[in-house]
Amino acid sequence: MIVLGVESSCDETGLALYDTQRGLLAHALYSQVAMHEQYGGVVPELASRDHIRRAIPLLQQVLVESGIDRHDIDAIAYTQGPGLAGALLVGASVACGLGLALDKPMLGVHHLEGHLLSPLLASDPPEFPFVSLLVSGGHTQLMRVDGVGQYTLLGETLDDAAGEAFDKSAKLLGLGYPGGPAISRLAEFGDPSAYQLPRPMLHSKNLDFSFSGLKTAVLTLVKNHPANICEQDKANIARCFVDALVDVLVAKCLSALKHTGLKRLVIAGGVGANQQLRSALNAAAVKRRFRVYYPELEFCTDNGAMIAFAGAMRLQIKPEAAQRDYAFNV
Ligand code: KG4
Ligand code: ZN
Repeated sequence: MIVLGVESSCDETGLALYDTQRGLLAHALYSQVAMHEQYGGVVPELASRDHIRRAIPLLQQVLVESGIDRHDIDAIAYTQGPGLAGALLVGASVACGLGLALDKPMLGVHHLEGHLLSPLLASDPPEFPFVSLLVSGGHTQLMRVDGVGQYTLLGETLDDAAGEAFDKSAKLLGLGYPGGPAISRLAEFGDPSAYQLPRPMLHSKNLDFSFSGLKTAVLTLVKNHPANICEQDKANIARCFVDALVDVLVAKCLSALKHTGLKRLVIAGGVGANQQLRSALNAAAVKRRFRVYYPELEFCTDNGAMIAFAGAMRLQIKPEAAQRDYAFNV
């Protein structure tokens, strides 16, 4: 079965073809980051308009790269949500139009399920069951995953998501958008002992998170500096912020593994690309004897491959999930 995946929930247009026999055939991505950068964040209407411009050229690209004729596509999976409403409507409309034109069924996929299953696209994928840490711009969740569609929420953020904390703190430091990679790079030059930042909910008895206090701590540090804050001070704040956030994420993962008795930890979502987080988790895995799995770097942030894959997995266990009435919800 060959499934076309269409992702358009935020500022990335992603299309991909996944074959349940041969694996990922092709994927193509257009990032709108350069367009939104000048506004310091995603402008929803511009995002929707750009998805319209990119979707069909990207489809043509994956068809050429895979050598697949469009009539050989068996089903079309699109991101149903959560995401920006206008942006989601573009992906759903593209999927609906293609489905109708090619006489193929379509299927809405939950964006977070796409992220959650993305590590299974790697060459050495984890077996079920596992604990998953989903850390994206909009969500931070710990989940027990027993199989496709078998998810138990263990804990989640009570306020900001980890990626949101990265982006907002980076903005406070004047690092632009998206802030995650920028603050992470700057942190490499910072002094970890320069400031003592809070580790919110580190010792709480549950597996929930809270990151808004950490962001406020960064705001207070920035305010306490003169307007022309020097590069080294910025790097020190960045370093202390990243260390605090990573400490909390790692500690909660360890608690989740202990709570479930599982020995496999899977990381998903944009913040999963963070090198400081990866180093800390790798060190903990050696010490505590568990295995940690990551998606390929290009599949940490939003992409069409994870939607094609999640759609294919869904259809394998529940073929009737594919629908031909060409009505959609976002
Ligand atoms: O999963 P994703 O592409 O979108 C959502 O579904 O939200 O995640 C985007 C988030 C942004 O907040 C971005 O700053 C963060 O992932 N991110 C990173 C890194 N790369 C992306 N955060 C920290 N370090 C990175 N290397
Ligand atoms: Zn995402």
